[in-house]
Amino acid sequence: MPELIAPTERLHASWLQCHAEWGAGLHEDGFGLLATDEVDSPAGFQTWVARLANESDGTCWWIVEGDRVLGGIALRHQNHELAPRAGHIGYGIRPSSRGQGLATWALG
Ligand SMILES: CC(C)(COP(=O)(O)OP(=O)(O)OC[C@H]1O[C@@H](n2cnc3c(N)ncnc32)[C@H](O)[C@@H]1OP(=O)(O)O)[C@@H](O)C(=O)NCCC(=O)NCCS
Repeated sequence: MPELIAPTERLHASWLQCHAEWGAGLHEDGFGLLATDEVDSPAGFQTWVARLANESDGTCWWIVEGDRVLGGIALRHQNHELAPRAGHIGYGIRPSSRGQGLATWALG
Protein backbone atom coordinates (compact mmCIF):
# COMPACT_ATOMS: atom_id res chain seq x y z
CA MET A 1 0.00 0.00 0.00
CA PRO A 2 1.40 3.45 -0.88
CA GLU A 3 1.59 6.16 1.75
CA LEU A 4 2.15 9.91 1.71
CA ILE A 5 4.91 10.90 4.10
CA ALA A 6 6.78 14.09 4.93
CA PRO A 7 10.22 14.24 3.29
CA THR A 8 12.74 12.57 5.57
CA GLU A 9 16.52 12.33 5.61
CA ARG A 10 16.08 8.67 6.68
CA LEU A 11 15.26 7.76 3.07
CA HIS A 12 18.30 9.44 1.49
CA ALA A 13 19.53 6.28 -0.30
CA SER A 14 16.06 5.38 -1.55
CA TRP A 15 15.37 8.94 -2.67
CA LEU A 16 18.66 8.99 -4.60
CA GLN A 17 17.60 5.82 -6.47
CA CYS A 18 14.33 7.53 -7.43
CA HIS A 19 16.24 10.68 -8.41
CA ALA A 20 18.63 8.68 -10.63
CA GLU A 21 15.71 7.11 -12.48
CA TRP A 22 14.43 10.50 -13.65
CA GLY A 23 17.67 11.12 -15.49
CA ALA A 24 20.11 13.99 -15.43
CA GLY A 25 18.76 17.47 -16.02
CA LEU A 26 15.07 16.54 -15.91
CA HIS A 27 12.87 18.57 -13.59
CA GLU A 28 11.34 16.31 -10.95
CA ASP A 29 7.81 17.64 -10.64
CA GLY A 30 6.32 17.49 -7.17
CA PHE A 31 9.54 17.38 -5.13
CA GLY A 32 10.17 21.09 -4.55
CA LEU A 33 13.71 20.52 -5.77
CA LEU A 34 15.64 23.53 -7.09
CA ALA A 35 18.72 23.46 -9.32
CA THR A 36 20.62 25.02 -6.41
CA ASP A 37 19.81 22.20 -3.97
CA GLU A 38 22.73 19.83 -3.33
CA VAL A 39 21.21 16.47 -2.48
CA ASP A 40 24.02 13.95 -2.97
CA SER A 41 25.80 14.44 0.33
CA PRO A 42 24.05 13.63 3.64
CA ALA A 43 24.55 17.24 4.77
CA GLY A 44 23.12 18.72 1.57
CA PHE A 45 20.18 16.33 1.65
CA GLN A 46 19.48 17.22 5.27
CA THR A 47 19.52 20.93 4.39
CA TRP A 48 17.07 20.38 1.53
CA VAL A 49 14.69 18.28 3.66
CA ALA A 50 14.81 20.94 6.39
CA ARG A 51 14.01 23.67 3.85
CA LEU A 52 10.95 21.73 2.69
CA ALA A 53 9.79 21.22 6.27
CA ASN A 54 10.04 24.95 6.93
CA GLU A 55 8.20 26.11 3.82
CA SER A 56 5.22 28.21 4.81
CA ASP A 57 3.66 28.61 1.37
CA GLY A 58 3.58 24.98 0.30
CA THR A 59 3.58 21.39 1.51
CA CYS A 60 5.50 18.51 -0.06
CA TRP A 61 4.89 14.82 0.50
CA TRP A 62 6.69 11.80 -0.84
CA ILE A 63 4.76 8.87 -2.20
CA VAL A 64 6.37 5.76 -0.74
CA GLU A 65 5.77 2.05 -0.44
CA GLY A 66 7.71 0.77 2.53
CA ASP A 67 11.08 2.49 2.23
CA ARG A 68 10.88 2.83 -1.56
CA VAL A 69 10.32 6.37 -2.82
CA LEU A 70 7.90 6.28 -5.76
CA GLY A 71 7.17 9.95 -6.31
CA GLY A 72 6.40 13.34 -4.87
CA ILE A 73 3.40 15.63 -4.67
CA ALA A 74 3.41 19.30 -3.74
CA LEU A 75 0.50 21.45 -2.67
CA ARG A 76 1.24 25.11 -3.35
CA HIS A 77 -0.71 27.44 -1.13
CA GLN A 78 -2.30 30.67 -2.33
CA ASN A 79 0.80 32.82 -1.78
CA HIS A 80 3.28 30.40 -3.35
CA GLU A 81 5.24 32.22 -6.07
CA LEU A 82 4.67 29.37 -8.55
CA ALA A 83 0.92 29.03 -7.93
CA PRO A 84 -0.23 31.63 -10.49
CA ARG A 85 1.64 30.04 -13.39
CA ALA A 86 2.14 26.41 -12.32
CA GLY A 87 -1.06 25.84 -10.35
CA HIS A 88 -1.62 24.55 -6.85
CA ILE A 89 -0.55 20.94 -7.39
CA GLY A 90 2.66 19.52 -8.80
CA TYR A 91 3.35 15.81 -8.87
CA GLY A 92 5.76 13.36 -10.34
CA ILE A 93 6.06 9.57 -10.32
CA ARG A 94 9.37 7.79 -10.98
CA PRO A 95 9.36 6.29 -14.49
CA SER A 96 9.24 2.63 -13.37
CA SER A 97 6.16 3.25 -11.21
CA ARG A 98 4.02 5.15 -13.71
CA GLY A 99 0.74 3.89 -15.14
CA GLN A 100 -0.35 2.18 -11.92
CA GLY A 101 -2.73 4.83 -10.62
CA LEU A 102 -0.27 6.33 -8.10
CA ALA A 103 -0.68 9.96 -9.21
CA THR A 104 -4.47 9.57 -9.12
CA TRP A 105 -4.24 8.03 -5.64
CA ALA A 106 -1.89 10.74 -4.32
CA LEU A 107 -4.07 13.51 -5.71
CA GLY A 108 -7.05 12.03 -3.89
C1 LIG B 1 1.89 12.62 -15.08
C2 LIG B 1 2.29 11.56 -14.04
C3 LIG B 1 2.41 12.24 -12.65
C4 LIG B 1 1.20 10.48 -14.02
O1 LIG B 1 1.52 9.55 -12.98
P1 LIG B 1 0.90 8.09 -13.00
O2 LIG B 1 0.99 7.53 -11.61
O3 LIG B 1 1.53 7.30 -14.08
O4 LIG B 1 -0.63 8.40 -13.39
P2 LIG B 1 -1.87 7.46 -13.15
O5 LIG B 1 -1.46 6.03 -13.34
O6 LIG B 1 -2.55 7.83 -11.85
O7 LIG B 1 -2.76 7.90 -14.38
C5 LIG B 1 -3.66 8.98 -14.29
C6 LIG B 1 -4.31 9.25 -15.63
O8 LIG B 1 -3.41 10.00 -16.44
C7 LIG B 1 -3.15 9.31 -17.68
N1 LIG B 1 -1.76 9.53 -17.97
C8 LIG B 1 -0.72 9.19 -17.21
N2 LIG B 1 0.43 9.62 -17.79
C9 LIG B 1 0.07 10.26 -18.94
C10 LIG B 1 0.80 10.90 -19.98
N3 LIG B 1 2.13 11.00 -19.95
N4 LIG B 1 0.09 11.42 -21.01
C11 LIG B 1 -1.25 11.32 -21.05
N5 LIG B 1 -1.99 10.73 -20.08
C12 LIG B 1 -1.33 10.19 -19.05
C13 LIG B 1 -3.49 7.86 -17.38
O9 LIG B 1 -3.85 7.16 -18.54
C14 LIG B 1 -4.65 8.00 -16.40
O10 LIG B 1 -5.84 8.26 -17.12
P3 LIG B 1 -7.18 7.42 -16.81
O11 LIG B 1 -7.50 7.69 -15.36
O12 LIG B 1 -8.17 7.99 -17.76
O13 LIG B 1 -6.80 6.01 -17.07
C15 LIG B 1 3.64 10.86 -14.42
O14 LIG B 1 3.57 10.42 -15.76
C16 LIG B 1 4.86 11.77 -14.29
O15 LIG B 1 5.49 11.82 -13.22
N6 LIG B 1 5.20 12.51 -15.35
C17 LIG B 1 6.33 13.46 -15.34
C18 LIG B 1 6.02 14.65 -14.43
C19 LIG B 1 4.75 15.40 -14.85
O16 LIG B 1 4.46 15.58 -16.02
N7 LIG B 1 3.98 15.82 -13.80
C20 LIG B 1 2.74 16.56 -14.02
C21 LIG B 1 2.96 18.03 -14.08
S1 LIG B 1 3.20 18.70 -12.46
